[in-house]
Order: sequence, then C-alpha cells, then structure tokens
Amino acid sequence: MYKLAVMGSGNGSNFEAIVKYFNGKDVEITCLSDVEDTFILQRAENLGLEHKHLPPENNLEYFKKNKFDLVALAGYMQILPENVLSEMGKVINIHPSLLPAFKGKDAIKQAFLAGVKISGITIHYVEKDIDAGKIIAQYPIFIANGAHLDEVEAEIHEIEHKLYPIVIEKVLEDKVFDFQDLMRGKCGGKCSDGGGSSSKGCGGKCSDK
Ligand code: GRF
Repeated sequence: MYKLAVMGSGNGSNFEAIVKYFNGKDVEITCLSDVEDTFILQRAENLGLEHKHLPPENNLEYFKKNKFDLVALAGYMQILPENVLSEMGKVINIHPSLLPAFKGKDAIKQAFLAGVKISGITIHYVEKDIDAGKIIAQYPIFIANGAHLDEVEAEIHEIEHKLYPIVIEKVLEDKVFDFQDLMRGKCGGKCSDGGGSSSKGCGGKCSDK
C-alpha cells in the first residue's frame, strides 16, 4: 500500500482526477490544504477521504510525524522552505506551462497573452525555488490563431487530469517510463484501439479507462 498526499489550495480538480484514477488500487490518499474553507477539502469530504486543513506554519511538525511515499502538489499556492521539503520526502508538482517558460501564477494566461503557439503542462520535482525542479514529464498543446483563453485553459486541464495520475503512479512505483509513451495520443498510451504502444499512437482516440 502506497501512501500519497495531495496538497492544494483551491479547486481540486486534479485531486479528484487522481482519486478516480487510483480507485480500487493500493494507494491511500490524504488531502491537505493550507486554506480551511476550500473546494479541494470539500471534494475529499464528498469522496470520503482523509483530509486536513494544514496551515503552512504547521507543515514541519506534520511532515515530521506523517510520512508519505509521495507528496503531489496540485494547485498548492504556498512556498515550501527547504527544511519542510526535506521532511516531506519526494515532492512533485504540476504546472500549466512548458517550464521553464511562464513560471509562477496564471501561467496559462501568461502564455496566452505572450502569443505563444505551443504551450502545455509540466510535471516536475519540487525544490526550494519556484517551478524550478527537475522535469519529469511534459505535454504540449498547440494554440491556434483565434483561440480563446477559456478553450486553452480547458484543454490544459483535460491533459493535466489524464497525465498527472499516470505520472504519480510511475513515481510511486519508482518506475522508469518512456516519456514518448505519454506523448502518444492524449491518454498516456491507453488508446481505444490498443494502438498506444505503437509508434503511430492513437490519434486522440482514447479508451476512457
Ligand atoms: C492546475 O492548473 C495546476 O497546473 C496548477 O494549479 C491548477 C490547479 O487546479 N498548479 P485544480 O485545483 O487541480 O483544479
């Protein structure tokens, strides 16, 4: 049984996607939020999962006492100092741009307003500097001329919800995975025609499982 903590400060859509992905698998998920009255904690409550309001000043003490195989940040808006990080063990984050471009807040909007034609998502290890740790996986999207910001946001979030759980599973199992597999189709190789493992990919025809 793996122990996974997901930390967020707001909406929690990635958290919910992670919970759904691991449903029935040997992973115990705890939801932690620095904000008391927030939707991510509400989602955890609705899903019947362990959850806790954890003010940042209590992080050190909490992570000294509570050990996880992995802590996955998903919309966590606090900076984690080095002494806290070293108690947390393995910590990863998801960021809605192709790092190192567009670090910090509102990354999708930053990229959109800059007029870039390719953006995407990045999953990376967390270090003391913001959005700067070693990159584990990335996935690109094209931004068409005339695209609206909300369309770009929706596409990025859809990819986040598919990719983050897969990457979390690989990191938990300490498995080396082929980055190219994640690039085929939008479903991490789970194509409805089984074609995800071929070099042609599945052209976006994902099996929803
Ligand atoms: C995601 O876009 C993630 O990349 C960023 O914060 C957002 C969190 O969304 N770090 P949600 O709370 O998971 O819905």
